[in-house]
Amino acid sequence: MKPLYYTLFLVIFSSVHYFVICQNVPSSRSSQASTLVGTRLYFFGGGASTEVWYLDLSNSFNISTPPWHNDIVMPVGYSFGTSCLSPIDNSTIYLIGGRTWMANTGNYLYLTSVYKFNSKTSQWTTPTINNFNYNFTTRNEIQAVINNNGKIFVFGGTNFNSQTILYYNDMNVLDITTMTWSTLNQSQSYITNVDYTATLLPNGNIAYVGGRSISSSKVVNITDMAKIQIFDTKSYTWSIKSASGSTIASRVSHSAVLTQDGNIIIYGGSLQNSSGYPVTVYSDIAVLNTSSWAWSIPSVSGTKAPPLTQHSAALYKNYMILAFGATSASNSYTNHVYILDIQNYTWVTTFNVPTTNPAK
Ligand SMILES: *[C@@H]1O[C@H](CO)[C@@H](O)[C@H](O)[C@H]1NC(C)=O
Ligand SMILES: *[C@@H]1O[C@H](CO)[C@@H](O)[C@H](O)[C@H]1NC(C)=O
Ligand SMILES: *[C@@H]1O[C@H](CO)[C@@H](O)[C@H](O)[C@H]1NC(C)=O
Ligand SMILES: *[C@@H]1O[C@H](CO)[C@@H](O)[C@H](O)[C@H]1NC(C)=O
Ligand SMILES: *[C@@H]1O[C@H](CO)[C@@H](O)[C@H](O)[C@H]1NC(C)=O
Ligand SMILES: *[C@@H]1O[C@H](CO)[C@@H](O)[C@H](O)[C@H]1NC(C)=O
Ligand SMILES: *[C@@H]1O[C@H](CO)[C@@H](O)[C@H](O)[C@H]1NC(C)=O
Ligand SMILES: *[C@@H]1O[C@H](CO)[C@@H](O)[C@H](O)[C@H]1NC(C)=O
Repeated sequence: MKPLYYTLFLVIFSSVHYFVICQNVPSSRSSQASTLVGTRLYFFGGGASTEVWYLDLSNSFNISTPPWHNDIVMPVGYSFGTSCLSPIDNSTIYLIGGRTWMANTGNYLYLTSVYKFNSKTSQWTTPTINNFNYNFTTRNEIQAVINNNGKIFVFGGTNFNSQTILYYNDMNVLDITTMTWSTLNQSQSYITNVDYTATLLPNGNIAYVGGRSISSSKVVNITDMAKIQIFDTKSYTWSIKSASGSTIASRVSHSAVLTQDGNIIIYGGSLQNSSGYPVTVYSDIAVLNTSSWAWSIPSVSGTKAPPLTQHSAALYKNYMILAFGATSASNSYTNHVYILDIQNYTWVTTFNVPTTNPAK
């Protein structure tokens, strides 16, 4: 009996141990959606995952042991969508578009294009939307921004799981104060765009950087990084800014944050082959000054983050926090967190709770 008891004990002990490890650290993944709420940096899905994780930024930590917390899972597996925080209550997160996966059917399903997550109560709901444009169903590889009045702007994207792959150039707007959807006249937007970054500037313009488009002859064309598509959320008009300065390699699925002094900092991204898989993955930082519209490449110190694409980035005070993503063309994914101190472009291994916002 003794050996059997011992074996059982070991089995139980090991599974408990394994269970605990599984519960505390998310697995490697990419194409999650991410939103900062106060001191919690949330991550939704990634790959076919239904999981919701957040990093607690209220205490200092070593990036090799990030303070992960598990939250209530999503109603569906989720990737290639986008999320943003309601400025009305600073606690409701909207998830828009994306590929939604149902494990029990083993297929992509598009039951709803918008989910609501109450980060205070950890509750998921599917809101009723007035005037929803069903052309938006299946839309993914998009980035949304939300303005202070509660209008979410989502440009372009592509469909998925369809015989005909379509790229879009429409601007969809969801007003969360009335839960009303509108799709703007498309004829003014220059090109279709997918896998870009979208940054809302204080003057109400959205800067779309990078990504890829498709021509009328169905040729995929990667967007010139020096041609910044601008959408004015006040006049609902489009324009293009030609950026000067350093030449930045074209890319898709990079990440971007806006600093308080008006720089857009981008990291990584990739080139893709014609079936949409990463080919070349970048590990560079580039900075776009949104008043002079000049690109520059800062000199960076510290231990560099690896190449990353289909990752996410958030700015928390003086830290740009990168998480997850694909690290190479051979589809290896990471569950690591990488942090750049934007005050002197230094990669850090310790997150020290910042006491103030960056002074510069
Ligand atoms: C962070 O953790 C790693 C791995 O345990 C360790 O090598 C490193 O010294 C730690 N860094 C700091 C600043 O404590
Ligand atoms: C939401 O957060 C913003 C920025 O921190 C702040 O200006 C605003 O007052 C907050 N609104 C509410 C309802 O808490
Ligand atoms: C939906 O797409 C169809 C076909 O592309 C187009 O004719 C129609 O105007 C679109 N509807 C809206 C509301 O954008
Ligand atoms: C859409 O834009 C085109 C060109 O700017 C304009 O001619 C047309 O009247 C607009 N349509 C609507 C419904 O606003
Ligand atoms: C690709 O984009 C460039 C410049 O943005 C343009 O000159 C070229 O015609 C485009 N090619 C295709 C096939 O659309
Ligand atoms: C693109 O890359 C993926 C993953 O490496 C590979 O399976 C696929 O065959 C590639 N497609 C093309 C058209 O090269
Ligand atoms: C952006 O460029 C302008 C004009 O060169 C300069 O005055 C400003 O300091 C720059 N902004 C940042 C954040 O570097
Ligand atoms: C970067 O700035 C931080 C303060 O934000 C400082 O603690 C750190 O020593 C600086 N690192 C370098 C390499 O200058």
